[in-house]
Amino acid sequence: MHLIKLKRLQRGFFIVFEGLDGSGKTTQAFLLKEFLVKKGYDAILLREPTEGPWGGEIKELLSNGRKEISPQEELNLFIEDRKDNINKNVLPAMRDNKVIIQDRYYFSTIAYQGALGVEPQQIRAMNEAFALKPDLVFYLEIRPELGLKRIEAGRKGKRDAFEKEHYLSKVKEIFDSCNDPFIKKINGSRSLDSIQKNINEITIEKLSLLTANI
Ligand code: ADP
Ligand code: TYD
Repeated sequence: MHLIKLKRLQRGFFIVFEGLDGSGKTTQAFLLKEFLVKKGYDAILLREPTEGPWGGEIKELLSNGRKEISPQEELNLFIEDRKDNINKNVLPAMRDNKVIIQDRYYFSTIAYQGALGVEPQQIRAMNEAFALKPDLVFYLEIRPELGLKRIEAGRKGKRDAFEKEHYLSKVKEIFDSCNDPFIKKINGSRSLDSIQKNINEITIEKLSLLTANI
């Protein structure tokens, strides 16, 4: 039998996937976790919005349409959910020197709530007052149209068309303008395999600097 050599990191490592709906974040986050576990890393998968109480409110809001809630109130829900996630999930895993792979983080808030009219710099400052910075962000860049097409094909349902595409174009503009040094822009319109290879390579290069075999 082939035994996996377990790898121990000198510190926790926080990886985030960002991008538009349908850009492939959930798929790639899962594939990266599987890849790292096979290599012997202690990797976990997290997501925002969470399964916690604030996340529940957010999901209800998203499925029922935005209706009466203001952009500022919506922003506050995402922030409360994030505080909860950081305290309950992210910080404990960082203390255990794990690799954390998270589907969406505060760049989503900057882009999505920014596109609703809240000042992006204000959203960033509110988040950076409490949220630790990630070590690596994979921004899967696609055109809104492609993401909507993929979702439509997956669900075999209809999309809520133009309005959504217009909103997502604004979201994309804000994502594109985030230029922190830890953000790696990945062309998300390629095949699953080539995106996965690209992501695995970048991740292993970073992790190998922090790794010892046990
Ligand atoms: P997100 O989490 O960013 O919304 P998903 O990973 O859920 O995106 O992917 C949305 C849909 O697109 C799924 O049906 C998935 O199988 C498909 N998909 C993901 N990546 C690709 C790709 N590179 N090429 C084609 N289809 C993809
Ligand atoms: P998610 O379940 O990740 O959707 P998907 O898998 O389609 O990408 O996220 C739900 C929605 O929440 C998504 O449309 C983006 C939005 N969102 C915000 O508006 N602000 C935020 O801070 C986050 C984390 C998500």
